[in-house]
Amino acid sequence: MTTATPDYQDWTTTDTGEQILQSSAQHTIETMVDLLGLQPGHRILEIGTGSGYSTALLASHTGPTGKVTSIDINADLVDRANRRLTADGYRWAEAHAANGLMGWPARAPYDRIIAWTTPPEVPQAWLDQAADDAVLVTPVHLAPVAHAHAVLRAEVHIGQIRRESLHPGSFIETHSAATNDPRVPTRHLDAVQWDANGSPSWISAAPLHEQHPAAQRLLAQLRALGKLEMSFPNRKHWQAAMAHVVTRWPERACAAAGPWGLGLGIASTGGVAVITTTGLLVHAGDVDVRLALVAAVENWDRAGRPGYDALRRAI
Ligand SMILES: C[S@@+](CC[C@H](N)C(=O)[O-])C[C@H]1O[C@@H](n2cnc3c(N)ncnc32)[C@H](O)[C@@H]1O
Repeated sequence: MTTATPDYQDWTTTDTGEQILQSSAQHTIETMVDLLGLQPGHRILEIGTGSGYSTALLASHTGPTGKVTSIDINADLVDRANRRLTADGYRWAEAHAANGLMGWPARAPYDRIIAWTTPPEVPQAWLDQAADDAVLVTPVHLAPVAHAHAVLRAEVHIGQIRRESLHPGSFIETHSAATNDPRVPTRHLDAVQWDANGSPSWISAAPLHEQHPAAQRLLAQLRALGKLEMSFPNRKHWQAAMAHVVTRWPERACAAAGPWGLGLGIASTGGVAVITTTGLLVHAGDVDVRLALVAAVENWDRAGRPGYDALRRAI
């Protein structure tokens, strides 16, 4: 029997030494787990077993008087995690292959629920399977576009969210089959184009959800590229600024990725402007869109750079 903290490298690397694609970064996992406020004996539902590291970490927190039930859509990952959990003595943790959006009613109620993959909206099944005064930590959409995410910490009482806060974080979207290309979002995608060496560029924009020819056109223009330097001192500021922009204008929100990296910003049916994680302003079409994005970021700056505590979910 063990309650020792699992070794990250050991869990997230295959026998042949490669990193498991689905592994999240260790500090990201620890930050999310801290939000849960775990105690020995807790019954936990985890969505997104992945490498199994987080499952073992949760099990080390609850100890053998608790129970960890982990769900992943990918049966190979579930098999691997179960083999490792058994080998490492975590007999109070088990993984199941299923669509996590349904939760796992057989072991409900749960004192804590944590997800490592972004659902379209918080599934009622999770709230129904939560014990009274349970805590749920899950990535959520801030706007109806890919990658416009934050982490929600919610206290749940009788199947309803009672109190909530938002925190930085972004995770792959839930999907319904094990195989997908993690470089292309599965939800809210409006156009994707591939370059000669097989790298995708894509756009996901609320005003373009019904306008896919316009999305293709704007994406092609973006790839031909208009770029301007912006100065964002670090990724933390970028995340907070963009979270405020997309929640202020969810109906204009936009994400786009390509050779410039990943950017978030705004769009119309005739224009797009995003700021990338490295501070590039990438834009195409109507200049008004670019001007509006720059003005929104300047307003956020003048307001004293509010963080996630000042943020409200727009959807
Ligand atoms: C970021 S990874 C999990 C990281 C993991 N917790 C770790 O310790 O490294 C996200 C996982 O969610 C899983 N997933 C995606 N859609 C899902 C769904 N609908 N139901 C259950 N799991 C899902 C993926 O297969 C992937 O393993």
